[in-house]
Amino acid sequence: MRLVLLGPPGAGKGTQSDVLKEKLGHGVLHHSVGDILRDAVKKNTPLGKQAEPFMSSGKLVPDNIILGVIRERFMEKNFQPCFLMDGFPRTIPQAEAFDSILKELRLPLTGVIVLDIPLSAIIERLVQRRSCPVCHRVYHLKYQKPKHDEMCDEGHGALIQRPDDSAEIIRQRFAVYEKETLPVIQYYQKKNLLIPVVATESIDNVSKDLLAKIDLFKKEHVL
Ligand code: AP5
Ligand code: MG
Repeated sequence: MRLVLLGPPGAGKGTQSDVLKEKLGHGVLHHSVGDILRDAVKKNTPLGKQAEPFMSSGKLVPDNIILGVIRERFMEKNFQPCFLMDGFPRTIPQAEAFDSILKELRLPLTGVIVLDIPLSAIIERLVQRRSCPVCHRVYHLKYQKPKHDEMCDEGHGALIQRPDDSAEIIRQRFAVYEKETLPVIQYYQKKNLLIPVVATESIDNVSKDLLAKIDLFKKEHVL
C-alpha cells in the first residue's frame, strides 16, 4: 500500500496513521513531515533552524525545503516501497514533484485519504492534545488519555503540548490548509485517487470507516 493521508490540523492524521500502521502491517513506513521537522527543531539542525519560524507562526515551510527532505528519504538505499505519507503533499508544487519522484521509482500511489472536519470541531481537539516528544505518539486529555498523568504510555517520560496549538495559530493553520491544500485534494480527485472519510466521529468509528473504505477502494480499483 502507498497512501497519502490529508486533512486539516487536528483531523486525526497522526492518530489514524498509528491505527493504519498496525492494521496494514509493519512493512508500511509512516512518514510524518511534521514530526521530522519537529525533531529537527528540537536538535537545532540547519533544517530545524530554517523550519521553526514557519511552523511557530502556522505557515507552511517552503516547498524547496520540504522537497529536499522527501527526496532524501525516497532516494535512500534501504527505502521501503510501502508507505503512509502523513501531511504531505500540501501544495500543488509538492504534489507534482512527488508524482515525478514516484514515477522515477515506478511506485504509483494506491490512494489518497482525506479526513474531513470543520474548524469548529478541531480547536478542542488541539488545545487538549498532548504528544510524546520521543515516539511522537498522540494523546488527548479527554478522548485518548495517557495511563498515568501526562506521561507517555511507552515509558518515554513527560508529554508535551505543541507550541503551534494555540487557538490563534490553529486558525492560521486551518486557513493555510484551505488555501494551499484543498487544491491538492482536487488534483488527486481528478486522478480518481480520493478516499474521503468523515473525521468528526469517535477515534474508533473513524478507524472502522477508514479501513472499510480502503478495502472497498481496493476492490473497486482491483488493487
Ligand atoms: P503537522 O504536524 O502535520 O500538523 P497539522 O497538519 O497541523 O496536523 P496535526 O498534527 O496538528 O493534526 P493531526 O491531523 O495529525 O491530528 P492528531 O492525530 O494529532 O505539521 C506541522 C507544521 O509543519 C505545519 O504547520 C507546517 O509548518 C509544517 N509542515 C508539515 N508538513 C508540511 C508540508 N508538507 N509542507 C510544508 N510545511 C509542512 O489529533 C489531534 C488531537 O485530536 C489529538 O489529541 C487526538 O488524540 C485527538 N483526536 C484525533 N482523532 C479524534 C477523534 N476522532 N475524536 C476525538 N479526538 C480525536
Ligand atoms: Mg499530526
